[in-house]
Amino acid sequence: MAAAGTGHENWSSRTAFILAAVGSAVGLGNMWRFPAEAGENGGGAFVLFYIFCVLLIGLPVLLSEVLIGRHGQANAPESVRRVARDSKASEGWSILASMGVFAAFLILSFYCVVGGWVVYYIGVFVSDLFQTGLSGGAFEGRAASDIEGLLPGLFGNGGLMVGLNLGFLAVTMFFVARGIASGIEWVAVYLMPLFFVLFLGITIYGAFTGNFSDAVAYLFTFDFSKLTGEVMLAAVGQAFFSLSLGVAGMMTYGAYANRDTNLAETSGIIAGADTAVAMLAGLAIFPIVFAAGLSASVGPGLMFQSLPIAFQAMPFGSLIGLAFFVMVFFAALTSSVSLLEAPTAYVFEKFSFSRPVATLIVGLGAAVLGVLSSLSFNEIAEFRPLGFIPTFAEANFFDALDGVTAKLFMPIGAILTCIFVGWIADAKLIDDENGLDGVLHQTWRVLVRFVCPVALTVILLVGLFG
Ligand code: TRP
Repeated sequence: MAAAGTGHENWSSRTAFILAAVGSAVGLGNMWRFPAEAGENGGGAFVLFYIFCVLLIGLPVLLSEVLIGRHGQANAPESVRRVARDSKASEGWSILASMGVFAAFLILSFYCVVGGWVVYYIGVFVSDLFQTGLSGGAFEGRAASDIEGLLPGLFGNGGLMVGLNLGFLAVTMFFVARGIASGIEWVAVYLMPLFFVLFLGITIYGAFTGNFSDAVAYLFTFDFSKLTGEVMLAAVGQAFFSLSLGVAGMMTYGAYANRDTNLAETSGIIAGADTAVAMLAGLAIFPIVFAAGLSASVGPGLMFQSLPIAFQAMPFGSLIGLAFFVMVFFAALTSSVSLLEAPTAYVFEKFSFSRPVATLIVGLGAAVLGVLSSLSFNEIAEFRPLGFIPTFAEANFFDALDGVTAKLFMPIGAILTCIFVGWIADAKLIDDENGLDGVLHQTWRVLVRFVCPVALTVILLVGLFG
C-alpha cells in the first residue's frame, strides 16, 4: 500500500524494515567472505579490528544512509536531492547516490554469479543425499581432491556457470518486480527466520561434533603482532561490504521507513545482527574445518572446497551440507534483492516505468555483465578490462568489478555521504531524523564529521596505491 503522501509503498511495520535491512546486510559477505578473510588475515587480530570498524565507521555511516533515505522518501539520488534542497545546499550532491546506484548494479551482477555457485552446491548435496543416504558422511568413497575439484570443474563449464548465474538473477528479479510488501518484504519475513533457525542448528551441530575450542581460540585470541596495515584494510572493506554500505542500498531501504521508526536504534540492531551472524558463521565453519584437519587460511575456497571435504567425515554430512547451502542461499537472496532494488527504484521513479519493466531493464543489464563475469574464470580468463590500471592489472572481469566497487565506489560513496551529512546538510534536519540525543548524538557527530571521512580517505588511498 502506498504510504500517505510519499507516492510509494512503505514497510508494513518496523519489524519488516529490520528484517529486510538485516536480510540485505546478512549474505555471502557473512557466510563466505567473512570466514575466508578472517582465515587469510590471521584470525583474532582481524576479528577484533573488524568489530572496531563496525562500531566506529560502519554504524555511523549506516545511520547516515538510512536517515537520508527516510527524509527523502524516494530513490537514493532523489532522496539526497531533497535533503540538499531542504538544507539550501547544492542538489549536485545527489551524484554521491547516483554513483552508489550504479555501483549497486555492478555488485548485483557478480553477486548473482556467486549465488549461482551456491545453487550448484545445493544440487551437489541433493544428489549426494540420494547416493550415500541420510546418516553417513558426505561423498562416500570419494577422494578429497575429487571434492575439491568440484569448484574448478564448475568454473570450467561456461554454460553451467551462465545458467546458474541467470537463474539466481531471475529469482531475484521475480521478487523485486512484485514490489515492497509482496516481494522484498515477503522474502525477508519468510526467509530470514528460516535462515536463523538453520544457522543456529548448524552452529550447535558444529559445536558438538567439530573442534569448537580450537575455533574459538582461533577467532578470539588477539595477537597484536598480526595487526598489519593489510589486515586493517581487509577488515574495513569487509565491514562495509557486510553492512551493505557506500552504494545507496541502505538509503533505498531507509526511504520505505515510517516517520516514527527510531533510526539510531534500528541501525544498531542491523549492525549488531550482521556482526553476530559473521562471528557465528566463523563458529559454524571453523570447528568443522578444523575437525577435518584442514587449514583456515585457504581464502575463497574455504566455504566451497574445505567445508564440503570436512562434511565427508561428519555424521549426517550430506544432510547438514545441504542444509548449510540452502541457508546460504536464503541469505544471498535477501541481499541480492536489496542490490537490485536500489537501481530499480531509481529507474522506476525517474523514468516513470512500471516496477516490473524497471526490474526487467536493470536485470537485463546485470545479466549481460553477469555472463561476462561467469565466463571470466575460463573462457575469457585472459580478458583484463582494467589492465591499464596497476592495481587492477591482473584482474579478470569478475575480479575487476569486485575490485572497483570495493576499492573505489564504496569508500568514495561513504566519504561523500559523511561530508554531506556531517558538514553540508542542515544540522536541525539531521537532528530530527537520527533519533539520538545527548552524548550519543555528540559522539555520532564527531565520528561522521571527522573520524569516518579521514579514516575512509586513508583506506581509499592505501587501497589504490598502497
Ligand atoms: N551485505 C551483503 C552481504 O554481506 C551484500 C550486499 C547487499 C551489499 N547489498 C549491498 C554490499 C549493498 C554492498 C552494498 O552479502
